[in-house]
Amino acid sequence: MRKGLSLIKSLFFFGTRPEAIKLAPLVREFRKRPKIFDVRVCVSAQHREMLDQVLSFFGIVPEFDLDIMRPNQSLYDILGRSLHGVRDVLRSFHPDYLIVQGDTTTTFTGALAAFYEKVGVIHVEAGLRSFDKYSPFPEEMNRVLTTRLTDLHFAPTEKARQNLLEESVPEDRIFVVGNTGIDALFLCLRKLSRKSPGDFEALKPVDFSKKIILVTGHRRESFGKPFENICQALKQIARVDDVEIVYPVHLNPNVRKPVYEILKGVSNVHLIEPLDYPSFVWMMNRSHLIVTDSGGVQEEAPSLGKPVLVMRDVTERVEGIEAGTAKMVGTSKNRIVRETLGLLRDEAAYNRMARAVNPYGDGTACERIRKILRGRLLPGK
Ligand code: UD1
Ligand code: UDP
Repeated sequence: MRKGLSLIKSLFFFGTRPEAIKLAPLVREFRKRPKIFDVRVCVSAQHREMLDQVLSFFGIVPEFDLDIMRPNQSLYDILGRSLHGVRDVLRSFHPDYLIVQGDTTTTFTGALAAFYEKVGVIHVEAGLRSFDKYSPFPEEMNRVLTTRLTDLHFAPTEKARQNLLEESVPEDRIFVVGNTGIDALFLCLRKLSRKSPGDFEALKPVDFSKKIILVTGHRRESFGKPFENICQALKQIARVDDVEIVYPVHLNPNVRKPVYEILKGVSNVHLIEPLDYPSFVWMMNRSHLIVTDSGGVQEEAPSLGKPVLVMRDVTERVEGIEAGTAKMVGTSKNRIVRETLGLLRDEAAYNRMARAVNPYGDGTACERIRKILRGRLLPGK
């Protein structure tokens, strides 16, 4: 990384909805200091609609858009297109460093291309590990490989820092700052404080006098039988009278097929399009309970005091489990039904989980990252 310049040339690179949500507040934070940071944003657009929803909410117009998304794309498609595209942007902008976030294939290709171009890599949300190569797939290996290519690691929690230390990452290159997703969440909540159900078109059919179960799911390792199990479980849970299931269905065709085949038309189930970020946050806040396999949702829900049942066999977000606000329930139909109905009926168990604890951050991660980077890259300024 070059030092001593008056302006730090920073290139953000991301491609999917969660990366955008977690990097948008950092882009905004850097842009508040134009005399220090020369900021450009490049999106792979590994997601298209779901990315654009986030960009529009945060008012970010990328300087570079690789527009790589194709229907039902393979990992090879994403990797090839993203790697070539970001190479060209690195060669034209010559940043001092590239900032990537999380564990998607866009994240990994950004870090790899930056390495090939001898540009420094900054990794936000570094150090998460499930310790299972194939779960989540391919995210666990994307994280491990991104770590190897990274120069400065911004870890959300102490546990993440420990994971990096155990992989021999030098201590002075790791900074525990919290998760920038919590910064995004707080920012969004401030804007939402006076909204009601009528403000959200997609939620108009939902009966908010009932207990709302909010569902999301998209993990590649759950495609096929596990997803069918999940849908069958939801179908059974929907028989409970005072419950409404609200399920914004991910645009991945491997998710949509089983979900619509099994759940379309089932009473008490609302299959809707992916919600824009503020609508989803509002919905989380209004829900009784969240059933998900999402990484980001596992981090957000504890801040809102919402119990989360995690439809996975392993998680890298163990802090929420240890804090008692999240519980792993796997992908077997019977277990999902049993755990969900248990929480609906057992008030004491529900109350034990519904505590607003926030193991993932306090909403100041972006400011901390900005200050640390300024100190490292422009010493004395
Ligand atoms: C990707 C990431 C995953 C992340 C998730 C967040 C990889 C390999 N996967 O998984 O780590 O947790 O995003 O949601 O990096 N699609 C659209 N429009 C969109 C988005 C997706 O139509 O806006 C459809 C397309 O057909 C696309 C497919 O979904 O080909 C799959 O998208 P992809 O990014 O490959 O996988 P995700 O499951 O979204
Ligand atoms: N989210 C959203 N709309 C939705 C569902 C989720 O804006 O309909 C947000 C959610 O608040 C979280 C992020 O998307 O910040 C999680 O994305 P996803 O579950 O797709 O990916 P993961 O976090 O598992 O990588």
